[in-house]
Amino acid sequence: MRIGFIGDIVGRPGRRMVRQFLPKLRESETLDFVIANYENASHGFGLTEKNAKELFAAGIDAMTGGNHTWDKKEIKGLLESMPLLRPVNYPEGVPGRGVRTFQVGEERLAVVNLMGHYGMPMVDNPFIVVNRVVEVLRAEGVANILVDMHAEATSEKRALLMMLKDKVSAIFGTHTHVGTDDLVIDHGCAYVTDVGLTGCRDNVIGMDAKVPIERFLTGLPGRFEVPDKCRAILQMVVVEFKEGRAVSAYKVRAYGEGEVERTLKARIEARGEA
Ligand code: FE2
Repeated sequence: MRIGFIGDIVGRPGRRMVRQFLPKLRESETLDFVIANYENASHGFGLTEKNAKELFAAGIDAMTGGNHTWDKKEIKGLLESMPLLRPVNYPEGVPGRGVRTFQVGEERLAVVNLMGHYGMPMVDNPFIVVNRVVEVLRAEGVANILVDMHAEATSEKRALLMMLKDKVSAIFGTHTHVGTDDLVIDHGCAYVTDVGLTGCRDNVIGMDAKVPIERFLTGLPGRFEVPDKCRAILQMVVVEFKEGRAVSAYKVRAYGEGEVERTLKARIEARGEA
């Protein structure tokens, strides 16, 4: 199966990029299933019902969240009625689900949404929780397992790869909005530290640069705004799974001006001793 994974969609420019490019990319990259991170999709904070419908209509099949999942109140209902996830390591009793299994052609695909610890809300230990979740999925016979690791610290993401590379098919990082160039397939597990944002590629992490500059100059708080006019980008990792292992992966960058580039063909690390 061939999967597209789009990083954090930030505000209207991000949604516009998904509408502009995803229908064509589903065809050209022969994608069977598309996942995206929604937590900044509605004006940079959370997800509204209207925007969720817009993104699903553009060709997304399932969406993951993060620390900003809760920014719009209506999300609690949407987590039940739509194929949306929130991090699995929130404590018991929190609305929504952090694991969902989908039928993709003849096969099953599990999507796990996980959140790191560093600089994040106080949630359960992601490493302990994900071990438990992956064991259950494997016991149920689900071979294709994709993890969205929503985290600030690169070390947490790398440690997750080292811990799970034999047990899951892909680990893709989100949250920093800055795409990294370390796409790799290690022991059949596709990995990138951060997929990078879909939205304004200028400014600061998709937000109007004026506010963060002022915050850094003065130390005073300020409300982030998504600029309406900007140079935009869509960033997506394409990965192919065979019998639960990643066999190829690369990155697609589509620019608002119309150009599409395929880049970062994943290095496949040999299995066994280095
Ligand atoms: Fe986040």
